[in-house]
Amino acid sequence: MRPNATLVALLAAACLLGTCALSRVEDMRAQERLFLGSMGLSERPRPAGNRLPRRNVPSEIWRMFQRSENSHARESDPCTVSEYGVRGNIIRYVQDQGALPSGWSGGCLEKPLYFNVSVLQPVELLSLAQLEIKFHWKLLQGPRALSMTLYKVIRATLRGADPKAGRRPVLSQSVPAHPEPTSVTLDLTPLAESWRRPGRNYGLLLELLPLGGEPGEEQLLPFRPGNALPLEPAFALPLVRASLVAVSLNPHQCRSRRRRSAVHLPVTPSNVCRARRLYIDFKDVGWQDWIIAPQGYLANYCHGECPFPLSESLNGTNHAILQTLVHSLDPHVTPQPCCVPIRLSPISMLYYDNNDNVVLRHYQDMVVDECGCR
Ligand SMILES: *[C@@H]1O[C@H](CO)[C@@H](O)[C@H](O)[C@H]1NC(C)=O
Ligand SMILES: *[C@@H]1O[C@H](CO)[C@@H](O)[C@H](O)[C@H]1NC(C)=O
Repeated sequence: MRPNATLVALLAAACLLGTCALSRVEDMRAQERLFLGSMGLSERPRPAGNRLPRRNVPSEIWRMFQRSENSHARESDPCTVSEYGVRGNIIRYVQDQGALPSGWSGGCLEKPLYFNVSVLQPVELLSLAQLEIKFHWKLLQGPRALSMTLYKVIRATLRGADPKAGRRPVLSQSVPAHPEPTSVTLDLTPLAESWRRPGRNYGLLLELLPLGGEPGEEQLLPFRPGNALPLEPAFALPLVRASLVAVSLNPHQCRSRRRRSAVHLPVTPSNVCRARRLYIDFKDVGWQDWIIAPQGYLANYCHGECPFPLSESLNGTNHAILQTLVHSLDPHVTPQPCCVPIRLSPISMLYYDNNDNVVLRHYQDMVVDECGCR
C-alpha cells in the first residue's frame, strides 16, 4: 500500500462526503468508517480472505454489473433493477449455508437449505427474494426424473420427534435427471421477509425421491445395507447448489439524481475552482480483497479558488457572489466561498460481504461531475 496514495484516496473519499474542510486526516480508521458508513456498511467487509478458493461471481451478476456500468452513462433509474423488474439498489447472491446431504437414505435424499438474510440491514426494503436450485446429476443411468419437494421449516424439531411435524411444503414438482444441469427458481419474498425477524429463520428442506421403478433405480440407492455398491456413493449424489437472489432498496441511498455523462476532465493547470481528475485505485486503500469490481474508478474532486468577481462558469449561488464581494473588501474577516461538488453521479460496485455473498450495489454520488462555489 502506498501511504500517500492512501491519504489522497481517503481525502477524496472525505471530499465526496462533503467534509473537504478537514485539513488533515487525523484518524484514517475513522475516515474509513465514515466512508463505509456512507456505503451502507457498518464495517469493512472481511470476506474469507484465507479460505480459498473463493466463491465465484455468478455469471448473471457479472452481466448485470457490466450492464449497469454502461447504463450509468445513460439516463436510467439507479434505484430500479430492470433485470427483475423491481425497485432496488442492492442485489445479493446469498449463499446457502445448509449442511451437505449425507446420502440417500430410505430411498430419499434430504438437503437442508439455509440463507442468512440478516446480512440485509434493517433499513433495507426487501423487494424480491428468488430461490434458485441447480441440480447437476453425475449419473448416467437411473431414473429419468425425481420428485422434488421443498419444505419451509417452521420450528426446530427435537431428536426422536416426527420431523414432518415441523415443516410445511412450499413447492412440489418433478425434476428431470439428465446429465445437463437443470434448475428450479421460486419466488420466496414473503418467506424471506419473515426470516428477517430474529429467531424466525429455520431454513428450508429439499427432499428428492426417484420417480417410478425405472431401470437402474438401484444405482441411486447405494447405501442400502447388503447391496453391492454399483457406483461410488459420491458418484450417485447430485450436486445441489442453491442461492437466494435478494434485491433490496436502501431508500437513504436513493435520491433521484442525474446520471453521469461520461466525464473526461481536461488536465489543465488553473487556480480557479474546477473538477480535477482523481482516480481512486481500491488497491491503494487496501480494499482489493473485498471489492471485486471495479478495481478503481475516476472519482475526481473539486479544488480551486472562488475569486472576486465570481464568473458564471463557477456556478456560484447568490450567497457565494455576495461572499466573494465581502471577502474582496476584507479577506481576513470573511473567507472565500468553497469550491464544492454540485453534481455527482453514481457507480456500481461488486463486492464480497462478511458471509462471502456476492453483492452488487449501486452507489449514488460517487463521481464528481461539476463543481461550484458555495
Ligand atoms: C448471519 O449474518 C449475521 C450478519 O452478518 C451474523 O451476525 C450472524 O452470525 C449470521 N448467522 C449465522 C447463523 O450464520
Ligand atoms: C458549472 O456548470 C457547467 C454546466 O452546468 C459546467 O460546464 C461547468 O464546468 C461548471 N463549473 C465548474 C467549476 O465545474
